[in-house]
Amino acid sequence: MKTIIISSSTSKTSKSFILCEEVLNKLRDKKIDCELIDARDLELNTSHNSKTPSMLETIEKINKADNLVIGMGVHNYSVNDSLKIILDTCFDNVNGKFFGVLCAAGGEKSYLATIHLTQICMSQWKMIQLPRIVYATGKDFSENKISSQITREWISEFVNEFISIGKKLMS
Ligand SMILES: Cc1cc2nc3c(=O)[nH]c(=O)nc-3n(C[C@H](O)[C@H](O)[C@H](O)COP(=O)(O)O)c2cc1C
Repeated sequence: MKTIIISSSTSKTSKSFILCEEVLNKLRDKKIDCELIDARDLELNTSHNSKTPSMLETIEKINKADNLVIGMGVHNYSVNDSLKIILDTCFDNVNGKFFGVLCAAGGEKSYLATIHLTQICMSQWKMIQLPRIVYATGKDFSENKISSQITREWISEFVNEFISIGKKLMS
């Protein structure tokens, strides 16, 4: 089972990246073949006709993945801009793939923002989403680390369910 984690925030202090890193480490601890794509390392271009080398590399990696974990920050009650670009330009061969969502937000009232990602992935590519979503806000982090015990436990559950359901869907 090959998993690609897409950390879509381009913020230097991204909190969703911290969630992605934690999930990467936990998946690797459980011997899952896993790779993290950090949007801060990509040269993103909104045009379909002039994809950059890093976008083409991202498309290739996503194509080869069995499943995906998508990290997002909430922007105006929706997905962040760089995630929308990645979805629009790099999701070529994702039909029916299983995916999970890790979300960082400024406040507790924006949790429905992840539904926009669900809508896009399910409507456009018939992707199947893990129902458990990790949703964290600023108060769950301190000094660039996850400080909340509840968030840690939620991530452990996310990883366990992602592996068990992911394997069942592949068999
Ligand atoms: C343009 C912009 C819009 C935002 N809109 C929301 C919002 O609607 N709801 C919310 O809870 N937080 C909002 N935030 C706060 C971000 O979700 C928060 O900073 C989060 O950590 C972003 O994820 P990241 O750190 O991985 O980039 C917004 C931040 C920015 C820059």
